[in-house]
Amino acid sequence: MSDTQYVLAIDQGTTSTRAMIFDAHANIVAVGQKEHEQIFPKAGWVEHDAAEIWTNTRDVVGQALGRASLQNKDIAAVGITNQRETAVVWDRRTGEPVYHAIVWQDTRTQKICDELAALGGGADRYKDRVGLPLATYFSGPKIRWILDNVEGAREKAEAGHLAFGNTDSWLLWNMTGGPDGGVHVTDVTNASRTMLMNLDTLSWNEEIAGEMGIPVSMLPEIRSSSEVYGTGRERGLLAGVPIAGILGDQQAATFGQACFEVGHAKNTYGTGNFMLINTGTSPVPSKNGLLTTVCYKIGDKDAVYALEGSIAVTGSLVQWLRDNLGIISSAPEIEKLAASVEDNGGAYFVPAFSGLFAPYWRSDARGALVGLTRYVNKGHIARAALEATAFQTREVLDAMNADSGVDLTELKVDGGMIANEALMQFQADILGVDVVRPKIAETTALGAAYAAGIAVGYWSGEQDVIDNWAEDKRWTPQLDPAERDRQYRLWKKAVTKTFDWVD
Ligand code: G3P
Repeated sequence: MSDTQYVLAIDQGTTSTRAMIFDAHANIVAVGQKEHEQIFPKAGWVEHDAAEIWTNTRDVVGQALGRASLQNKDIAAVGITNQRETAVVWDRRTGEPVYHAIVWQDTRTQKICDELAALGGGADRYKDRVGLPLATYFSGPKIRWILDNVEGAREKAEAGHLAFGNTDSWLLWNMTGGPDGGVHVTDVTNASRTMLMNLDTLSWNEEIAGEMGIPVSMLPEIRSSSEVYGTGRERGLLAGVPIAGILGDQQAATFGQACFEVGHAKNTYGTGNFMLINTGTSPVPSKNGLLTTVCYKIGDKDAVYALEGSIAVTGSLVQWLRDNLGIISSAPEIEKLAASVEDNGGAYFVPAFSGLFAPYWRSDARGALVGLTRYVNKGHIARAALEATAFQTREVLDAMNADSGVDLTELKVDGGMIANEALMQFQADILGVDVVRPKIAETTALGAAYAAGIAVGYWSGEQDVIDNWAEDKRWTPQLDPAERDRQYRLWKKAVTKTFDWVD
């Protein structure tokens, strides 16, 4: 540990990019943050401008360093964590993206997924090798769409001029030099979300890439989550600083929450919700609609795997109420509006805006607000929107208990929505288990910082993560179990109303 140096984490998320500087005790020293544009060209399409994300990254790193009055020499290592699956394809010669980044929430690749499923094996065609069902969520079909639809892209890709990456690789390539010699690398956790990586060998599966029409030359080199990939480019703010950690954001949160033992789990409440349970050093297949994914790999040590329940829409439903319906003017206002009523008034809101992810994997689903009567007002709708987060989490927890054969006894939580105390109480009520919030809630950025710090010896290993973790607050279930079961039964019924909405 060092008292004179710090670790910087870049958290490139779905709605914003942040830079966070941590000291050796995992205290936050400074933060920089900037939102980027959400581009919705058509119903079901979601894009980001990758060039804007790179500009914002430089800005937020400058903000954080400036606020802490630090320079490159004060930073021992940089870690990157990122929205996973979002696909960026760029030209190595110019550094220009050939198309906007296609975001994980985007459903345009449904036809591609259906065609691949029709080759045999249905949605589970690749599941035994990559741990994932064929779904619009993952990167592979998004790359295929870009190669099929952007003029000249396929020829350039075949000539070796194009590079693919999730936003981790895009930032790393730029941070280490871009067209002037940037490093084209990703880590095992991000690679495990492409549908193109063998879970057991942690290498690209050329047969699947071939079926998807993706030249393997476009793909980044797969490395561990904690090692030096390169150093900051000479003319950048982080010149010479080792970039030494990469973890997909949900895996980073799992690491930052110190979920190092088999059976340890966390749930992150962001734009969507993502629950991961550590399953140890071999991949465990799911029979209940969960994903098998890589959790982390520290340097030369064995990879650790997880089962994941991904929920596409939770926090972004609150944003939708703010931006599309205007019934609140800021996200935190939802808590007050929801508290203006006693209960949901019979309303259930299933936000299947990107279809339904775990445990259903129904891309034909679309959102539904059901149980309405003239009694229902905007307070009830706000409440139903918050409750949707808790009900969806219950469905994922049930799947985890069924897959692991052991019932989880408590759930560690993190992410923006955990500031909402009423939601956390309702979450404990609907799950029937304790919900536990850590003192340092910024576990995503922290996880990436740890991965980078461990690689350069700033921290000695997982024990430092365990020592720095501390409980802040615990919510225990208080709702009568019969009432809990009644509400959950109605939720399940509401879910069935969302199916078969795509012609
Ligand atoms: O799989 C998508 C996930 O990584 C996005 O997380 O926090 O950026 O919404 P977040």
